[in-house]
Parts: sequence; C-alpha cells; structure tokens
Amino acid sequence: MTSLTAELSAIAGAAFAAEGLPEELGLVTVADRPDLAQFQCNGALSAAKIAKANPRAIAAKIAARLRQNAILSKVEIAGPGFINLNVADAALDARIAFLCDNETIPGTNTGQGRTVVIDFGGANVAKPMHVGHLRSSVIGDSLQRLFRANGWHVVSDVHLGDWGLQMGQLISEIGHRGIAPIYFDANYTGPYPKESPVTMDDLEEIYPAASAACKADPARLEEARKATAELQAGRPGYRALWQHFFDVSRVGLEREWGSLGIHFDLWKGEASVEPLIGPMIEKLKKSGLAVESEGALVVQVAEPTDKKEVPPLILVKSDGAVLYGTTDLATIIDRVKSQNPDLILYVVDQRQHGHFEQVFRAAKKAHLNGKAELEHAGFGTMNGPDGKPFKTRAGGVMKLYDLIAMMTAEAEARLIEAGLASEYPAEERAEIARKVGIGALKFADLSNHRQSDYIFDLKRFTRFEGKTGPYLQYAAVRIQSILRKAQGEGLEPGCPAVLSPEERTLALHILALPDALEAAEARRAPNVLCDYAFTLAQAFSRFYSEHHILSEANAQLKAARLGLCLLTLRFLTRVLGILGIEIPERM
Ligand code: ARG
Repeated sequence: MTSLTAELSAIAGAAFAAEGLPEELGLVTVADRPDLAQFQCNGALSAAKIAKANPRAIAAKIAARLRQNAILSKVEIAGPGFINLNVADAALDARIAFLCDNETIPGTNTGQGRTVVIDFGGANVAKPMHVGHLRSSVIGDSLQRLFRANGWHVVSDVHLGDWGLQMGQLISEIGHRGIAPIYFDANYTGPYPKESPVTMDDLEEIYPAASAACKADPARLEEARKATAELQAGRPGYRALWQHFFDVSRVGLEREWGSLGIHFDLWKGEASVEPLIGPMIEKLKKSGLAVESEGALVVQVAEPTDKKEVPPLILVKSDGAVLYGTTDLATIIDRVKSQNPDLILYVVDQRQHGHFEQVFRAAKKAHLNGKAELEHAGFGTMNGPDGKPFKTRAGGVMKLYDLIAMMTAEAEARLIEAGLASEYPAEERAEIARKVGIGALKFADLSNHRQSDYIFDLKRFTRFEGKTGPYLQYAAVRIQSILRKAQGEGLEPGCPAVLSPEERTLALHILALPDALEAAEARRAPNVLCDYAFTLAQAFSRFYSEHHILSEANAQLKAARLGLCLLTLRFLTRVLGILGIEIPERM
C-alpha cells in the first residue's frame, strides 16, 4: 500500500522535473494547517534558491502542472510559495474501495529482502524478571511486530543473562547448603540427574541469599568468582547445574512473557556462544587487537574524536572469567554466521549505551559484523511517583507478575465503575480485565517516546477516557458491537463514500497508515503508532457522533457508513496488534 503522500510526492516530483528542477523537491507532506488544506509541498522555496528565481513564480508553474491532475481538487499557492493541496473525494473513494476489496492490510515493504535480529527481553536466569525488563519486552515486541509488518525477515532473540557472576554465586551457595553434593564431587563425571535439584521458587530464594552472602563476606565473593571461572572453563558438575538453572528459568520466563503475548524466535543466551569465545580471542590476539592490560585482555576502542573517555572493552579478566562484553561480541559472530542480518537491533536500557558503544566499536574494528549495522535502541526508566525507578510499596523491585496482577485488578475495578461487562459471566469479565489491564500497561509504556522516562500512574493508565489503551480498546469494541448489530439485522457493510467532512478526515487518516508505519520503523518508535491509533479513534468518534449509522433510513448510505466502520475497525485492530494490544470481543 502506498500512502497518499507518496503518490502526491511522485506527481509533484514529476512537475518539478518537467521544469528542469530536482524531483526531490516534490516532497508532499500532511499540511501543518489542516484548516487550509490536506497536504502541502514546500519545494518551490528551495527551488527558488537553486534557480535563483522568485519562489511564487516557480510555485505558479508547478501549480499549473498539478492542476492538470484529476487526483487533486485544489491547488493553491500560499505565503512565499507554499503549494497547498486537496485530494478529490472521488480519488479518496477509489483508494478506500481498493482497501475494502482486500482482506489484508498491506504494510510498507521497507524491509523487503532484509533481515533484522532484534535482541530484547534480556532477563537474567535465576533472577526474577522485574519492571526493568518490562520496557525491553514491550518495546522490543512491538518493534518485532512492526518490522514484520513492513516486510522484514525478523529473528527475535531473548539473549538471556546466563553466564555471569550470578551463576557462580548460585553454584557456591548451593554447595554451601549441601543441597546436591553430587554436582560438586570433582571425581564424579556424570551422568547427572535429569530432575533439577532446585525449582524456580528455590532459585528466587537462593539467589538473593547468595548475593547477600557475597556482599557481606569477601571470602564468599571469592568463592563465587572461582565457581564462575570454573563453570566457564567447563567443570562438568557446574555445567550440569547451570543447565538446570537455565531450564527451570526458561519455563517460568516463557509463562510470564506468554501472559503478555510476547514470544521469541530464539532462546539463546550469553552462554550459548561459549564455544565461539576461545577462537574469537585467538583471532583477536593474532590480529593484535586484543592486548594485555593489567593482567586482563582488552580491546582498545577509544577514538581521537571522542569527547568523553571510552574505556577499553575487557575480554578476559585476570582470573580467566569472560564478561558481558565478551559474550556480546561473540554473539555478533554467531548472528552473522547463522542469520547474516542487515541489522542487529538491541532494545536495552539506555544506561547500557556505553557498553554497546564499546562492543560495536570492537566488532567493527575486528570486522565481525558482516554486512550488519549494529544499533542500540535504548529506552528510559519507568519511575515511581518519587521520580525514582519503580518499586513495590515495601521498597522492593516490582516483579512483572505482580505488576500484571495489579493492572488486571485495577482494570476490573474500572470496568465495574464504568458499568461495563457487569452482566457477563465472571470468567469472561476476568478475561476482559486481563486484556484491558495489559493493554493499559503496554499502551502507557509505548505511547511515550522510548527514550523518555515516565511515571507509573495506575489510575491514569487504566482510564477509559483520554489517550490510553483502554480508550482505544473500547473504541474498537464499540465498532464491533455496531457491526454485530448490523449483522443481526441482516445488513452487509458496503463500499464507503466520502460525503462529509468527518468521513473525509477519517478516510485521509486511514490512507495515512503507511506513513505512520514507515516513520515508526525509521525512528524505532512505536509511539508514532500510538498517536496514529489515537487520532484514528478520535476521527471515528467524530464521524460516529455526526452521522446516523444503524438508524440511517437510506439503505445505500447505511451500507456505506457500515463499510467505513468496518474499515476503521480493521485498521485500528491492525495497529493495536502491532502494539501487541488485544481487543476484547465485547465489554
Ligand atoms: N541481561 C541484560 C540485563 O539484564 C540485558 C541483555 C541485553 N542484551 C544484550 N545483548 N546485551 O541488563
């Protein structure tokens, strides 16, 4: 689907070219002043500089050419040489009719033939997922849906944190507790039990205890370091224990992400690239990129143009353990080998920007990234009312599971307050509340630009009025209910016709979807789609309040308006779908 702005840009571009001017000057955008026109083209102003001529005179020549085209119902010159444009209703009708005839809503195809690996989620094995991972999950999932909609081949990878010190801390704590001595017996080489000696709940208790012990006692920390290095060096009992940690964590994590409707193509982690690390280090040493520094092996990544100091990337510490940056570097090798992507996008907390800068520089210096562009799409923090990262009332880190329960409970209260879903069976109401609660949470997160911090505000997020997830879900549910009633009366939606200002605005917005998809992709910014969905719902609401639909006496008009309802619903559903937001059947 090409957007109207793209179509008009091509037409205006041809007009500029016919005047011997650069075609790019024909760029047409949605008008800044919707009260004056639907679209505008400012190319005559730049053309005037190139041709050293009067901009209004150039605009007049371009306008004369544009007036030949039946797609335009108005071509006007304003101010110093802006060209204001309106599209003829018949042209809108034709494009809308095309959409009505097609079941699927075409995307933009910006990603045709291209592959992107999206690295998001990033939870850590054995540690409960917290709201810090929530933004990565929600934004990353929306980006994977968006890139797919735009024709990219997308491979999402959860990249679990499973190879760091926390693994050694767990192992040594379990050793101290004597829970599973067989894994610590250096003379025993296996096979090890299939059943994990610890459950996810056990890990949730053991990990904080282990980390506290290491904080309190330097000897315990040393032990944990040693266990980490031994695990990484391949000690069989430790590897077997590690596999249990990974497996039980995966079950728990899959359940949690699943309840948010979030899925990953790959369940890899830092540890999965372990076999690549040795050869990578050898290669880096040979090429002289990896050098000794204070007992550690590092890659210097500073550049003369740096304004701030960029420290070297540490590959191997003096105790032999590898670090976060080492596994990230090896992961690039793995991804290039298995996916040969055009882009690797890391949806990770903005505070890790420095880390990614180091990793990307090292990867490029060593030519590890193939044809892939490496990009960190960072995000800000979800804060509590005190402006600090969101915590539970007791001051602990809020777990994702508790957060979902809290959102669902609040959504149910709001539904009851609004008199919605009250006569439905309790089970259905609970399901609606779950969708609304999660929709509220996701929309609130996505509607801010990813780089801004925002304040968690349960009451505001779950409101049915204003720019919220529940408002949009309700708007869609209302259209569904109109269409259901129509169906009950044996009515079929027909092809819409643009006859009124409200219908025109709605049609123009529907046709602008490709622009929104493209802008959202270019900026890695789902908030562009939140704006699109909100404006669409508002345009529908104005159309709905100004027109009779089911009560319209003229059968042809009624069918046309039902057709516009159906098309709006399809577009709203599609965009909410890209945001990862589900629409309840009814409310
Ligand atoms: N596990 C990391 C964390 O919790 C996030 C991983 C992000 N992805 C990456 N390739 N480094 O902070």
